[in-house]
Amino acid sequence: MKILLFGSNGQVGWQLRRSLAVLGEVIALDRGSRPLCGDLRDAAGVAASVAAVAPDVVVNAAAYTAVDRAEDEQDLAFAVNAAAAEALASAAAKQGAWLVHYSTDYVYDGGGERPWRETDATGPLGVYGRSKLAGDEAVARATPKHLVLRTSWVCWPPHPRRSAWPACTTWRPAASPTGTAMRNCCWRKRRCVAGRFARRRSA
Ligand SMILES: NC(=O)c1ccc[n+]([C@@H]2O[C@H](COP(=O)([O-])OP(=O)(O)OC[C@H]3O[C@@H](n4cnc5c(N)ncnc54)[C@H](OP(=O)(O)O)[C@@H]3O)[C@@H](O)[C@H]2O)c1
Repeated sequence: MKILLFGSNGQVGWQLRRSLAVLGEVIALDRGSRPLCGDLRDAAGVAASVAAVAPDVVVNAAAYTAVDRAEDEQDLAFAVNAAAAEALASAAAKQGAWLVHYSTDYVYDGGGERPWRETDATGPLGVYGRSKLAGDEAVARATPKHLVLRTSWVCWPPHPRRSAWPACTTWRPAASPTGTAMRNCCWRKRRCVAGRFARRRSA
């Protein structure tokens, strides 16, 4: 199986490079990759990369993730998280490839007393969540061959170039960066990235 990964320098993408390797050949791209284009905002370049690699699966771990800054950078957040995700989904669909798209529990409103279900109503409280939700919906519209993972904190093992995440916690109240009450379920990256996908393949 050929897997084309976008966002390979991020916290999730960095782990994906390693954990997806057990499933097949991984072609990992980051924003500065050449000659294959890994910049999600270059729709034509991304489509050309997908066509050139002809992957079985495209994995999108690239995103605009500056939750607080997004309030002042709405256009950029939507360009990367929504428009670019849609373009990537269309490119994957053209190749008949699956798209695995990473999303977030910020698409929900942070209330409730149990883990979110796919069928729960969304209700993002900020620009970041709204842009990710727009991306999820665009991906679903663009191709039926999609898997959207709305994870919560992905915290371990830490990215080598970033500060360590807090120790893994499960369902405890925490304060969001914007001060909104929320609950976080901390995912271990390996389980999040490889386990779920492998289960989906064998289903
Ligand atoms: N980490 C978590 O706890 C967590 C929790 C819930 C959901 N998620 C989801 O998981 C996904 C990955 O998050 P992360 O934590 O790995 O974020 P991250 O560490 O901020 O990584 C995001 C990556 O996306 C890349 N990127 C940004 N704009 C790009 C563009 N135009 N073209 C190509 N690449 C671009 C960044 O590249 P540069 O390095 O060049 O800026 C960065 O490497 C996101 O969809 C996020 O919503 C993460």
